[in-house]
Amino acid sequence: MANFQRITPEQLRSRYWFDNPDHPGTTALCIERYLNYGITLDELTSGKPIIGICQSGSDLTPCNRHHIDLVKRVKDGIRAAGGVPFEFPMHPIHENVRRPTAALDRNLAYLGIVEVLHGYPLDGVVLTTGCDKTTPAALMAAATVNIPAIVLSGGPMLNGWRGAERVGSGTIIWELRKRLAAGDIDYAEFLSRASDSAPSIGHCNTMGTASTMNSMAEVLGMSLPGSAVIPAPYKERAMVAFDTGTRIVDMVWEDLRPLDILTREAFENAIVACSALGGSSNAPVHINAIARHAGIELDNDDWQRLGHEIPLLANVMPAGAFLCEEFYRAGGVPAILHELQSAGKLHGDALTVNGRSIGDNLQGCETQDPDVICRYNDPLVDHAGFLNLKGNLFDSALMKTSVISRDFRERFLNDPSDPEAFEGKVVVFDGSEDYHARIDDPALNIDARTILVMRGAGPVGHPGGAEVVNMQPPEALIKQGIESLPCLGDGRQSGTSGSPSILNASPEAATGGGLALLESGDRLRVDLKRGEVQLLIEPSELEARRERLAQQGGYRYPGHQTPWQEIQRSMVEPLDRGMTLEPATKYRDVARQHPPR
Ligand code: FES
Ligand code: MG
Repeated sequence: MANFQRITPEQLRSRYWFDNPDHPGTTALCIERYLNYGITLDELTSGKPIIGICQSGSDLTPCNRHHIDLVKRVKDGIRAAGGVPFEFPMHPIHENVRRPTAALDRNLAYLGIVEVLHGYPLDGVVLTTGCDKTTPAALMAAATVNIPAIVLSGGPMLNGWRGAERVGSGTIIWELRKRLAAGDIDYAEFLSRASDSAPSIGHCNTMGTASTMNSMAEVLGMSLPGSAVIPAPYKERAMVAFDTGTRIVDMVWEDLRPLDILTREAFENAIVACSALGGSSNAPVHINAIARHAGIELDNDDWQRLGHEIPLLANVMPAGAFLCEEFYRAGGVPAILHELQSAGKLHGDALTVNGRSIGDNLQGCETQDPDVICRYNDPLVDHAGFLNLKGNLFDSALMKTSVISRDFRERFLNDPSDPEAFEGKVVVFDGSEDYHARIDDPALNIDARTILVMRGAGPVGHPGGAEVVNMQPPEALIKQGIESLPCLGDGRQSGTSGSPSILNASPEAATGGGLALLESGDRLRVDLKRGEVQLLIEPSELEARRERLAQQGGYRYPGHQTPWQEIQRSMVEPLDRGMTLEPATKYRDVARQHPPR
């Protein structure tokens, strides 16, 4: 247990608002409006920590909606520990409903949380998370403002079932789309099966971006050990909500802050754990963003260097067979960390919100079911992490090589002298509307060795970056049994998809990236051993194309639809740098560097 110097009631940040003799008028104004609904003077001025609860649940955000009830237990915990809870809303982010994409709102929610944490009388905060981007938005803001903060995930849904078959959220959609395209099922059947995957309150029950990012919050040390994947309806979820409430009050007294926890070691632990979890391809974007706001240099080379060799231990969809209920019962995130620690892959002394090191928290956390959480020396797949590919079209793009199927290898990786390289002719699409309009056009001559390219899908081309790179082959090929083609793009793909795409190519076409220079019919060579993707073209021809594009005014993309789209596009960084707002990344430890005035 770390030894913390406890602060005194006089040192509470909320005193500036509620008990400040230098500003008696202002203080009176702050107090009177909280009294108007029944808060007492004693609660505000007797030295109790004021604890914010950032509420990410609403009717618009079904994945997080049960936080509306869950925070009652958080408030009970805060009260029991001698604090006063104040709940406030997070800008809603709901992954599969928000248009043009939920990722557009991660930075907007981040800004909102920063302003609330900085500008209101809060001594600490409980950040309620769930659906994909709510977790990184909350952690980025916690890093920027740096008041004591703890993350409470809402937890995944119960397993989805169709008869005796597990149905995983998101993952089933990718499967059903192929069945629909092949004519095996109709739309009514599609809808009925899709809804089987969402049987209860909670976020996606697969190891998609939501389960990944909430697991990452736990690995980073920002939520209570063992809490990330407790299924939303379980009694343990409400219990850990209570414990989270009591713990944040102590964290205030201990002055234990996010930047004490979000160290380089914590981020390296996150990279390693993400591989072992078979985590979402969105994790590098969000983890790199949180690191940037914490002042830690982290890039996709770190992901390859530390993460690529780590084996897959979590047998959870989309990489594995089970869902989060089994994952929780098998020991959840602590059991994964226990295996990594035994293999010497974890920084065991990284601090966590309970005041202990991550290593100390792992005593007695062995896997309870090696079929679901494998032993390190008997994994599901070797080298489960990302490769960071580079070449003459981009500086960085991620690929998870462990999900390359045997069928794919036989079709492409078939040069016995160089089994890690393949070549193909490209067909290029400009955004998902173009893809949907043309994918079945026979004139494109897409065959089993074509590489599909999606551009205009990065954070500027499609505001926020679209999850569209895992493109389905044309219906005619699916009917022949070709269910996937290699895909490359400057957008993202859903964390619930297991496609072996080359993703997040940075810089994107819309900001001068080389994908803008590709033409359908060009040939690409992908060399996994060297970590390269090369357009097979004379450098002079590439230069000539670059000049022609510049003369035409650069790569064209659709205009802004809202003020925020325009603002974000003017300052957003590429996906490999976390898609952060560039001017925001210089603000650090805001609560202490810039105290309220
Ligand atoms: Fe919300 Fe997956 S759609 S967590
Ligand atoms: Mg998604």
